Amino acid sequence: MKHAVCRTSEEPCQECLVGFGAEKIREDFPILWTKVHGKPLVYLDNAATTQKPQAVLDTLMRYYTEENSNVHRGIHFLSQVATQSYESGRTRVRQFLNASHDREIIFTRGTTEGINLVAQSYGRKHLRAGDEVIVSAMEHHSNIVPWQMICEEKRASLKVIPMNDAGELVMDEYERLLSDRTKFVSVVQVSNALGTVNPISDIIGLAHRRGIPVLVDGAQAIPHMPVDVRALDCDFYVFSGHKLFGPTGIGVLYGKAELLESMPPYQGGGDMISAVSFEKTVYNTLPHKFEAGTPNIAGTIGLAAAIEYVEKIGMQQIAAYESELLEYGTELLTAIPGLRLIGTAKEKAGVLSFLLDGVHAHDIGTILDLEGVAIRAGHHCAMPVMKRFGVPATARASLAFYN
Ligand code: ALA
Repeated sequence: MKHAVCRTSEEPCQECLVGFGAEKIREDFPILWTKVHGKPLVYLDNAATTQKPQAVLDTLMRYYTEENSNVHRGIHFLSQVATQSYESGRTRVRQFLNASHDREIIFTRGTTEGINLVAQSYGRKHLRAGDEVIVSAMEHHSNIVPWQMICEEKRASLKVIPMNDAGELVMDEYERLLSDRTKFVSVVQVSNALGTVNPISDIIGLAHRRGIPVLVDGAQAIPHMPVDVRALDCDFYVFSGHKLFGPTGIGVLYGKAELLESMPPYQGGGDMISAVSFEKTVYNTLPHKFEAGTPNIAGTIGLAAAIEYVEKIGMQQIAAYESELLEYGTELLTAIPGLRLIGTAKEKAGVLSFLLDGVHAHDIGTILDLEGVAIRAGHHCAMPVMKRFGVPATARASLAFYN
């Protein structure tokens, strides 16, 4: 195996680790010094949530210590400082995704809320009886249920791109599913249960040929690879801050401005209006139209700090290092007798899902926990994936660059 940094070794080498600097990077994450059951913590549950570097923790503390105030509302000093920090967070996210305008960046609670927003706003406006929405067989529940809800209401139906035994989408079947009835495509970029990296540009290209908009669920892609929404040409892109080394409760919905402009608000309340009377309300402009109520100001500022942190390391470097780590982990795991990997796609990122003959996934999780190793065991909020592979649960080790 060749390594990302040294590019020469045939064996896993310490130089690679040193070259990327994972050991040094670990010092930035105080929680990684924790001992669990007397053993050093080995945190391999990054697909569930990632740990936070000191820079993010310091930023949160500084915000609450020095800037805490509400945004867009006060003329006083602190409110203006908080508003400026909040809006600079938006600019930072826009640059990170290479979106064209700040108004295309909507802050949400997370990926789930982003998808619900699009389903309830775009879906409610555009779906009619008989229409179809396409998702894939490897979606997280959060990219299934919101579409089921709106489809049920509108008497539209959900179509599912199947996957093969390796956990790869069958693209011919996808092409066959696309028709005049298809009004929306919503697909995950990286599967949280399998690690499959989907050919998202092809998926978008095929839909666009028929004028169908595409939402990309980027929850598991964003911490592992560079994302450029303009290069992808996706119509919507959603992700969560807490999977990108930022705080929980903050997420991002990117949407093309012309689509967001045409969509009705998702929630009503303060900040999403420009004028209210009992007779009529005039809605605010983008992005505020979709941000009703006091937003997660600290979360946004913390997310911006997390982005600044990963950008300093470099998303390309992170992707290269993790690809080596995944290859190394795959080699070691597959050498274990009785171990079956679930998800063996050619293109994978960050996830090693597996079963061990005669041992329930939950027992693997419990035994590893006693060794200080944190993994997730269960259906990973992707029950249809478990059903497709005929298993009730898997044990899942999921990676980050500090592993
Ligand atoms: N979606 C998260 C996971 O895969 C919670 O664990």
